[in-house]
Amino acid sequence: MSDIVKSLLSTAAGRIKPSPIREMFHLIRKPGMISFAGGMPDPDIFPVEQFHLGADILLEEGRDVLQYGVTEGYAPLKDFLSRWTAPKMGKEPSMDEILITSGSSQVADLMTRALLDPGDWIVCEETSFLGNTINMYNQGANFLTIPCDKDGMIVEQLPEKLSQAKSEGKKVKFIYTIPNFHNPLGCTMSLERRQALVKIAQEEGVMILEDDPYGCVRFEGEDLPTLYSLDDLGVVMYAGSFSKILAPGTRVGWAIGPKDLIRTMTVFKQGVDTCTSVVAQALVYKYCQSGNLDAFLPKIVDHYRRKRDAMEDAFKKYLPLEEVEYVTPHGGFFYWVTTPNILAEELFKRALEKKVAFVCGAPFFPNGGGEHSFRMCFTFASPEDTDRGIKALGETMREILGESKG
Ligand SMILES: Cc1ncc(COP(=O)(O)O)c(C=O)c1O
Repeated sequence: MSDIVKSLLSTAAGRIKPSPIREMFHLIRKPGMISFAGGMPDPDIFPVEQFHLGADILLEEGRDVLQYGVTEGYAPLKDFLSRWTAPKMGKEPSMDEILITSGSSQVADLMTRALLDPGDWIVCEETSFLGNTINMYNQGANFLTIPCDKDGMIVEQLPEKLSQAKSEGKKVKFIYTIPNFHNPLGCTMSLERRQALVKIAQEEGVMILEDDPYGCVRFEGEDLPTLYSLDDLGVVMYAGSFSKILAPGTRVGWAIGPKDLIRTMTVFKQGVDTCTSVVAQALVYKYCQSGNLDAFLPKIVDHYRRKRDAMEDAFKKYLPLEEVEYVTPHGGFFYWVTTPNILAEELFKRALEKKVAFVCGAPFFPNGGGEHSFRMCFTFASPEDTDRGIKALGETMREILGESKG
């Protein structure tokens, strides 16, 4: 960096951190690498032809679609989302309760801009989606973290942590949670904890950001109610996304929440990117409106269920199971694997030499921890690569265990 640029950087730029996972990507993207690292959908399941058929909208409505759009979002898509999300939301959200965003990560960005002053606090799961928490950190957030078990955030610990924070003069603005098929932990919050979480937020006067990109990717069991549907006081902002149920390249997501906060976030968005690409919104709308979203979703879920099963079969076939802990995820994209006698960093270094990549656990724990855990994405690699990659991981684990005993 030049001296001139250095001397001009803002205070915020002085403290920003890159995402360790994004930074890892050039390491991982080598030819021949079997990657369980990024949380990427399988491109084989992208509905390319059906998406392409919707492109006629550019001929039919090109003069509108190619123009600047309103910041609030493309009205036909908002109207579709109001109806499509109603069963999950417990009502048809009104147009002023919906904001179309550039991916659901923008919901987190705009909510942080709208609520946070530098130095304020956010509650989140002890390990969380770094893409969002790093952005929050870069905007000046501090974090209170609550650990998780297989039923998600241990909400029972929240009241004490909140009251302690209050007594120390810390201003907690919102609770950021991923209740369904958590990234990176794979766990899902139980109904009792959902109810308790909403009640606590209402009583304490803090907001909740319900981040739900994986909610529709459920392999078994019943859907649990959204936090949004359990709230009657307007404390929940719901973030949805087309990234995992259609394609992340669309960069179309949405926020559903109390209209005053949606309005404030909309004003921030005006200055961030004017509006989400109208071309992308119109193409997504055409795809959804033609019935493709509902027709394809079961196929996508089925496809990923088979991939999850292939990964677990390979775990059972190749890993030293007495040395490995994991919980089968009921949906989403990830296994969270713990190896009490193996450092994930060591496994990672050796696995890379065999052209196998995953994400180490430690970067998910900014305050330390996670050294013996790692995240495995099961959606991206082909079944053959999954088998070969996990065979290599199993061999590497045995090598390391053998050396530590010998
Ligand atoms: C928990 C979580 N939230 C948000 C996102 C970002 O989604 P989008 O592509 O809609 O911005 C991801 C992507 O991996 C995620 O795992």
